[in-house]
Amino acid sequence: MKLETGFSSRPFHYPKSKSALHCERVSLASLAEKYGTPLYVYSAGQILDRYRLFSNAFGHRDHLICYSVKANSNLSILKLLTERGSGFDIVSGGELLRILQVNKKAACRVVFSGVGKTAAEIDLALAAGILIFNVESESEVALLAERARKLRVRARVALRVNPDVFAETHPYISTGLSEHKFGIDIRAARAVYQQVKRSRYLDAVGISVHIGSQIQAVAPFGAALENVAELIRELASDGIQIKIVDAGGGLGIDYHGASDPAAEVEGYAAAVERALKGLEVRLLLEPGRFLVAQAGALLARVLYVKGSGSKTFVITDAGMNDLIRPALYQAYHEILPVLHDPMAEAAVVDLVGPVCETGDFFARDRAMPKVKEGDLVAILDTGAYGMSLSSNYNSRPRPAEVLVEGKRSRLIRRRETIRDLIGPEIRFV
Ligand code: LLP
Repeated sequence: MKLETGFSSRPFHYPKSKSALHCERVSLASLAEKYGTPLYVYSAGQILDRYRLFSNAFGHRDHLICYSVKANSNLSILKLLTERGSGFDIVSGGELLRILQVNKKAACRVVFSGVGKTAAEIDLALAAGILIFNVESESEVALLAERARKLRVRARVALRVNPDVFAETHPYISTGLSEHKFGIDIRAARAVYQQVKRSRYLDAVGISVHIGSQIQAVAPFGAALENVAELIRELASDGIQIKIVDAGGGLGIDYHGASDPAAEVEGYAAAVERALKGLEVRLLLEPGRFLVAQAGALLARVLYVKGSGSKTFVITDAGMNDLIRPALYQAYHEILPVLHDPMAEAAVVDLVGPVCETGDFFARDRAMPKVKEGDLVAILDTGAYGMSLSSNYNSRPRPAEVLVEGKRSRLIRRRETIRDLIGPEIRFV
């Protein structure tokens, strides 16, 4: 069976016919041997390439890429990016602590978003001296002012505005309509900026917007930023000079691996620039998925193949607790056999996990080369929102993670054990 692999957008490839699938120059069969399965494998080279691609697309403007930590928060990946001067978009105290673990000095390149920041999280971020708070409500403005007064510091503030712009994506990850919980209605924002301006402890320097995730059309990004540009001009007439525009994240990838990421990001940058034309502002960008999704694969071993009625189920040792995207968003992920046999017949199968839920599937009615018990499969484009959304459901220890650099591989998170899982529980015996 011929495989459509879209290799140009991914670091996974078969060096020759009948060889094992490789990540950069490392065979996934050898990684399964060495580290076991299920296993997340990431290409460092691809993450850095994507970072450069993104940065070059905005090269003509003062900008900072603030990688969205939630996409994949492994310390080694954060380190890779911080060494290139990346900033970070965080949404919790936990994510900030990860950045501080990796590099304390990177705190000044952190933006803090999220609708539900607690006083403790705000204090942590104020003490660390982050770049800016993306504030999402009037109540949060009041709390931030109070915490900054207590700590005797000034906080830089951007209001995250909700531009009421529709963007085609899964409803669970769309955020830019006024019916969503995110941001401050753009029509109400002028008044809230006045509230910020009144506080001695707050500096109204920025404005931010994020309309959702996995958005492949660039027009909605442009439309949202046009609304932002208009507000910036209105604010100038109110005596508020906006110096920082945070355009959020959300640029999608092609989960079929067919589109050219360089062209995608250039189209995105052009739309952003068109909307901001004439404004002299520093631009922050918060890509997550675009930087890391296609760099990663989840490697799993086939435990059983069984027929049931007209169906064939391929049961793997990875489950929905390791990768929930298909169950949660009906997401499509390409799946490749690790050993490439061009003569292999095709079969239509459901590729599923061992978890006790019918929603525990990676592919349904998928035509793919026939696999047998003991074979390895790679679930592609799982570098973003794979491990970071994993859980211990069914008391399953989470997978190990490996980072590949050229012909070297490095364990960046060991496999969990049952001890790790039950450790925090109180024993009544
Ligand atoms: N900035 C903010 C404020 C965000 O809420 C997000 C993502 C990002 C940036 C990064 O978005 P990205 O560039 O990765 O699209 N679990 C879902 C995605 C949830 C996205 C949540 N917010 C998935 O697996 O598709």
